[in-house]
Amino acid sequence: MAEVVIVESPAEAGALAADEIARLIIHRPDTVLGLATGSTPLPVYDALRDRLAGLDVSQVRGFALDEYVGIDPAHPESYRAVITREVVEPLGLDAARVQTPNGDLATIEHAGEDYERAIADAGGIDLQILGIGTSGHIGFNEPGSSFASRTRVKTLVEQTRRDNARFFASIDDVPMHCITQGLGTILEARHLVLLAFGAGKADAVARAVEGPVTSSLPGSAIQLHPHVTVIVDDAAASRL
Ligand code: GLP
Repeated sequence: MAEVVIVESPAEAGALAADEIARLIIHRPDTVLGLATGSTPLPVYDALRDRLAGLDVSQVRGFALDEYVGIDPAHPESYRAVITREVVEPLGLDAARVQTPNGDLATIEHAGEDYERAIADAGGIDLQILGIGTSGHIGFNEPGSSFASRTRVKTLVEQTRRDNARFFASIDDVPMHCITQGLGTILEARHLVLLAFGAGKADAVARAVEGPVTSSLPGSAIQLHPHVTVIVDDAAASRL
């Protein structure tokens, strides 16, 4: 059963998660972080700026959950660019130690396997930050994803493309495909920290935390994990 923490604001959630991450890094300077994109984890990265100031973060490693396929890595909304802008630069991490799945079409066939190997070589992920999509997806594992899935290419559902259109000029500019860590990959992280804010996430949160464990709601996979912390504001907790 996940530990559910209800907080008053995204800033409070960010502070809690950042405290836990800072504790890990103090204990083990080569901590491996699983990084999420989207708007949800931003308060965590904000709070981390303060928590990590003065700590040696040169050994910290990071693996992003997902990336769009076929997007130019220099595009401001590629997840490589987002992770660089929101995490690597502000926190002073070593860019070479932070990876995103490679969405380059030329090498996409083995990109999933390569990413899995890189995570394994790093010793696995110590703490995985997760958001949740309104479709119940974690990473980009849309409904129907197998709980055993590994990093692979997926097609984005219409709802997710609509949700993410706000980051692009129009929905037509949102890529159709993505490469994402699988649910099986995510479940191997040693600690999952799932955050969600706002009424729009209430249904997905309730189904992920309390609903049946089913691939139609990929977030429900967290119920299979022995160490999960769910941090939500009142609105996102309203259907629990
Ligand atoms: C995005 C990402 C997910 C993220 C989710 C929620 O599409 N691929 O990793 O958790 O959707 O996004 P947001 O946090 O902006 O609501």
